[in-house]
Amino acid sequence: MAKTILITGASTGIGAATARRFAAGNRVIIHYHSSSSEANAVAAAVQRTGGTAHVVQANLATDAGCRELASFAAETCGQLDVLVNNSGGLVRRCPARQLEWHLMQEVFALNAFSTMMLSSLCIPLLERGEHPCIVNVTSIAVRHGAPSATIYGAAKGALDTFTRGLAKELAPTIRVNAVAPGVIDTPFHARVTTPEKMAEFKASTPVRRIGQPEEIAEAIAFLADSLFMTGETVDVNGGLFMR
Ligand SMILES: NC(=O)c1ccc[n+]([C@@H]2O[C@H](COP(=O)([O-])OP(=O)(O)OC[C@H]3O[C@@H](n4cnc5c(N)ncnc54)[C@H](OP(=O)(O)O)[C@@H]3O)[C@@H](O)[C@H]2O)c1
Repeated sequence: MAKTILITGASTGIGAATARRFAAGNRVIIHYHSSSSEANAVAAAVQRTGGTAHVVQANLATDAGCRELASFAAETCGQLDVLVNNSGGLVRRCPARQLEWHLMQEVFALNAFSTMMLSSLCIPLLERGEHPCIVNVTSIAVRHGAPSATIYGAAKGALDTFTRGLAKELAPTIRVNAVAPGVIDTPFHARVTTPEKMAEFKASTPVRRIGQPEEIAEAIAFLADSLFMTGETVDVNGGLFMR
C-alpha cells in the first residue's frame, strides 16, 4: 500500500536521499528552506520512479514555519504514515568561551524545537496513517561531544531524549525512533568542516571512509518498516562510535 511521507530538509543531502529512497509508489512531501531548485530536482526524481511529489517551503526554525508545513501536509494529504524530521545544521562553529545567546537560540530552534513542534503538530495526521512513525535525525555529536559545536551536540542530545519520551507518550499508536549519522558526505560539511578535518574523520573511522547520504536513508527506511522498534536511536557511522 502507498505511504505518505513528509521529509523535512529534503532538498539536499540525507533528506534528498531519503526522498529518493521512499519514492517508488509512495507520496512524498519534499520540504525545503532555501534550496528550491534542488527540491524541485528531488521531486522530479521521485516522479520518475513512480511516486507522487509535493514541494513546500518553510523556515522550521520558527513556530510559524512549522505550522505552515503541518497545514500544508493536512491540506494536501490529510494524513501521514511517516514523518522524517531531518532539517538541521551546525550553523557555525563557536568556541565554548565565546558562546552567544542568539547563536544558542538559533541552533536549538533549527535542530531541536523544529522537530519537537512539527512532531506535535503532525500527531493528528499520523493518527490517521497506517503503522505511523516518526524518525528523527540526531548526530554522532550526541555520543562524542563536538568541540566548537557543543551547542549543536547539545541540541541533538535534546532531540535524542525527546525521541524516547515521545515514543513512550505516543505508544502504541505512533512509533518514534532516531538515526544518529556519523560523518556523511553532504553540503553540511562544506560550510563548517575543513578538508583537513574531513581527512582526519576518514582516517579515524574504522571503515576508512566518509558515509554516503543513501546509507542514512537506508537506516531511516529500516526504522519506518520495523514495527517492533520504538524509542531507539540507531548509530550509522562506519564504527566511529561503538557502544
Ligand atoms: N552530514 C553529516 O555528517 C551529518 C552528521 C550528523 C548529523 N547530520 C544531520 O543530518 C541532517 C541532514 O543534514 P545533511 O548532512 O543532509 O546536510 P544538508 O544537505 O545541509 O541538509 C540540511 C537540510 O536542512 C534544511 N534546513 C536548513 N535550515 C533550515 C531551516 N531554517 N528550516 C528548515 N529547513 C532547514 C536545508 O534546507 P535548504 O537547503 O533548502 O535550505 C537542508 O535540506 C541534519 O539534521 C544534520 O544535523 C548530518
